[in-house]
Amino acid sequence: MATALEPTTYTLPKIRQTQLLIGGKWQDSVSGKTFATVNPATEEVIAEVAEGDAADIDLAAKAARKAFESGPWATMDARDRGKLMTKLANLLEDNFDELAALESLDNGKPISDARAADLPLVIDCLHYYAGWADKIHGDTIPIRGNHFCYTRREPLGVCGQIIPWNFPMLMAAWKWGPALAAGCTIVMKPAEQTPLTCLRMAEIAMEAGFPPGVINVVPGYGPTAGAALVKHPGVDKIAFTGEHRTAQIIMADAAQTLKRLTFELGGKSPNIVFADADIDAAVAGAEFGLFFNQGQCCCAGSRLFVEESVHDEFVDKMVERANSRVLGNPFDAKTTQGPQVDQAQFDKILGYIEKGKEQGAACVAGGNRFGDKGYFVEPTVFTGVTDDMAIAQEEIFGPVMNILSFKGFDEVVTRANNTCFGLAAAVWTRDVSKAHRIANSVRAGTVWVNCYDVFDAAAPFGGFKMSGIGRECGEAALANYTELKTVTMSLA
Ligand code: NAI
Ligand code: MG
Repeated sequence: MATALEPTTYTLPKIRQTQLLIGGKWQDSVSGKTFATVNPATEEVIAEVAEGDAADIDLAAKAARKAFESGPWATMDARDRGKLMTKLANLLEDNFDELAALESLDNGKPISDARAADLPLVIDCLHYYAGWADKIHGDTIPIRGNHFCYTRREPLGVCGQIIPWNFPMLMAAWKWGPALAAGCTIVMKPAEQTPLTCLRMAEIAMEAGFPPGVINVVPGYGPTAGAALVKHPGVDKIAFTGEHRTAQIIMADAAQTLKRLTFELGGKSPNIVFADADIDAAVAGAEFGLFFNQGQCCCAGSRLFVEESVHDEFVDKMVERANSRVLGNPFDAKTTQGPQVDQAQFDKILGYIEKGKEQGAACVAGGNRFGDKGYFVEPTVFTGVTDDMAIAQEEIFGPVMNILSFKGFDEVVTRANNTCFGLAAAVWTRDVSKAHRIANSVRAGTVWVNCYDVFDAAAPFGGFKMSGIGRECGEAALANYTELKTVTMSLA
């Protein structure tokens, strides 16, 4: 295995920004502390990054408030806000190679994935929301009496945004896009595992001409910097993506200031394969739906229900595909699977693999660490999985596929919904009415039919049940970043 970063098609990026961005200035943290960000493929330190805490969050929240209430951003025409966002999208595109390499270095994802998925989605998202900036408007309402009544959609204010490490740039774009289009200002806390691309994006945003204080970035840890942002009385809203248990802490911490909250959390998404499906397409789609991004996707198809009559054929084909995935140096263009993001995730995943074996599932592919350096886990497939097993109930967030066999439509709907989560689902069938009946019956925010992980900035994404509150992407996300004001005027 090639985990060392030996010469490949791609060059390693230079690390340009490791400080906090507050009020348009790059600065060290008040405490002077730093933390290391690690290359998960080699376990080597890439850089020391300024570690923000409550004092830095306070400075950032004040800078964001100032930018929100006064200065060029507060008075800027909506169309000009959109033009700035377009400029940012174009500058990100100009720096495509560097950003893709930086994402791959900090997160461990194959650079081919960063180039094919993350970067294009990031750029598209900013273009999409740039177009919304001058199209956010209210209504005129025919109320009783001699009155003129209308609504305005005003920017929500200072938005705290806390993001995870699985798609660092894309999570930033999904949160910056609607916030900036609406005219809000931002204090973002990137994940401690992957702060580098968010800092570089912020540097590029400054180059694009965003006024000081509109975008502030404070890297640091969750219980310190993250919690301080959640509790800060000068922050109007928290948008969070991550684990549902963290969301529960955030909800409690936000109670004191009654902040607006939107959450995009995890899942245990059912991927349902009927016997009448194109089986090869379903196998390929299920592989992508689970193993993409090393299995570190909130919407991973981690409960794969396969109809009994095609189960064995499906498993044989899936095992072959799992075994042919190419693990190794993320900078090698041939690599299809990189390391997990850090030691904690690596340990958690191997723990679930052990639990699966203990609880009686059959491990028919993988099941071990890959190599002896870097946080690599073999593509793993379990069969004979039952609904009550830990691997069928809890989010593993790794390359561990669980195949469950089912007999009929009603049975699979009941079992698919037997979870506290409801982020996504997919169904594979050639029967159109069956596909629609599944789409209507599954309690999930997104349903894919004969495809998986199809994302677009225009399509709302988010969870039912414990998978989240609110929607990201699409017009729906704008509601999370605006307050509705009703104005009633006497015409007497
Ligand atoms: P996490 O939810 O702890 O971290 C996500 C973000 O929240 C990070 O920026 C972190 O610093 C911040 N955070 C942590 N505690 C906080 C607090 N008390 N107040 C404010 N912010 C806080 O997720 P973690 O620990 O990285 O991963 C644990 C598990 O969560 C994973 O194994 C996976 O199952 C799930 N997860 C789900 C994600 C998704 O996209 N839905 C993304 C990342 C993790
Ligand atoms: Mg955590």
